Amino acid sequence: MDAVCQRCIDPACGGTRAVDDTAFVCPRCGGLLDVAYDWGRLPPPKSLRDFEAKWARRSDPLCFSGVWRFRELLPFAPSDKVLTIGEGQTILQRADAVAAYVGLEAGRLFLQYEGLNPSGSFKDNGMTAAFTHARLAGARRAACASTGNTSASLAVYCSASGLMRAIVFIGSGKISYGKLAQALDHGALTVQIAGDFDDAMLRVQQVAGRLGIYLVNSINPFRLEGQKTIMYRVLEALRWEVPDWVVVPGGNLGNVSAFGKAFAELADLGLIERPPRLAVVNAAGANTFYQLYEKMGLRWNGGRPEQSLRETYYHGLDAGMLRAATIASAIEINRPVNLYKALRALDRCGGVVREVPDQEILDAKAKVGAGGLGCEPASAASVAGARRLRQEGVIAPGERVVCILTGHQLKDPTATVAYHSADPQTFEEVLGKRGVRRATFANRAVQVGNDLDEIIKAIEVYS
Ligand code: F0G
Repeated sequence: MDAVCQRCIDPACGGTRAVDDTAFVCPRCGGLLDVAYDWGRLPPPKSLRDFEAKWARRSDPLCFSGVWRFRELLPFAPSDKVLTIGEGQTILQRADAVAAYVGLEAGRLFLQYEGLNPSGSFKDNGMTAAFTHARLAGARRAACASTGNTSASLAVYCSASGLMRAIVFIGSGKISYGKLAQALDHGALTVQIAGDFDDAMLRVQQVAGRLGIYLVNSINPFRLEGQKTIMYRVLEALRWEVPDWVVVPGGNLGNVSAFGKAFAELADLGLIERPPRLAVVNAAGANTFYQLYEKMGLRWNGGRPEQSLRETYYHGLDAGMLRAATIASAIEINRPVNLYKALRALDRCGGVVREVPDQEILDAKAKVGAGGLGCEPASAASVAGARRLRQEGVIAPGERVVCILTGHQLKDPTATVAYHSADPQTFEEVLGKRGVRRATFANRAVQVGNDLDEIIKAIEVYS
């Protein structure tokens, strides 16, 4: 084998492609591909602590980047091909007020805030890796289907690097304004399709194949290599101790797949003793993974998942004309492309899947915001899911839990303002139609006349 190649995730198939190939499907069976390394020829550090030396070399862009600082764990490209814009300067915050809401002891809940990335979401971790690969492959145009964050990230990387032209496919009316604004402002060719994300995803794969455009959705295994580093940064912030749980929202299931690969590799390389448990949280209105995993019992099964279960489920969606529907538009997805990789991740890491209704997502989001960091609705699904798992007793109060906040608060101001609004009509228009009934943690603006006494009185009453 080459030191690096792309290899089919089905162990019985084992189809491979060269590292610089851009088809992103197994040539033998059409399945998903991994980036596979021959660690004998690409030796990683002996200890995770060795990475700390890079902190002293922050003037080197490859040491500054929170992705490429861990380059020895994603060694698919020579240094001169790496394309970085300084992504991954993100933080792990101890969040005691949110811990109390979730039902955890103080000091046991941490929020990994990926909203600090250049485009405001975790996607930049993967986009820098995809762009590095695109440069290896000599690509000139890149495309994605998106619920908004992948498209924002692609647009930022194209405008910042000039390496490729961005083409983004979005479901018409399906993405939040903050994200649409980014695609437009950064000059991406924005194709609004009369359909939803699942339609756009299918179309972009057809178009990319036909026109030879480089695909940056998470079906691209290089994206997931970059997203592994979110977990390296979590470990680093915990002084290289493995938490008990990592809880992540699930949409296309790229993150959970990347996290599972990261921990499997670290364990196989002897760099950690055990992986954490993984919990994936679906929105109840887009709960394919929950249904398949928890209700229908679909499992990785040593690389032979019962594929008919997925087909039956999708057939049912089509027959009932059922479409994904949630206020957490980032994860409004019914046909996750990384389904089988996600099953493998849960198999390796003792995973669980939960669903949470929009009401709980928005309440958790308000608690996250009041606790210090702001996130978009999809991100708060992780916190709402952790709370459910605590209530069920699956997570114990003293366990150490990391929830991933995948995107920034300002991505979706409409949802936030509607939740806090004093105007019942605004609330109803945005949230009521989604089954949200209450805004228990609303922080309503105080209406006053333009009158000094009235203003002072209001402040005295409310503060
Ligand atoms: N959280 C946010 C903020 C997202 O934007 C996404 C996915 C997810 C969670 C789900 O992550 O797909 O790895 O399970 N957004 C994609 C997009 C689909 O197009 O921006 P996943």
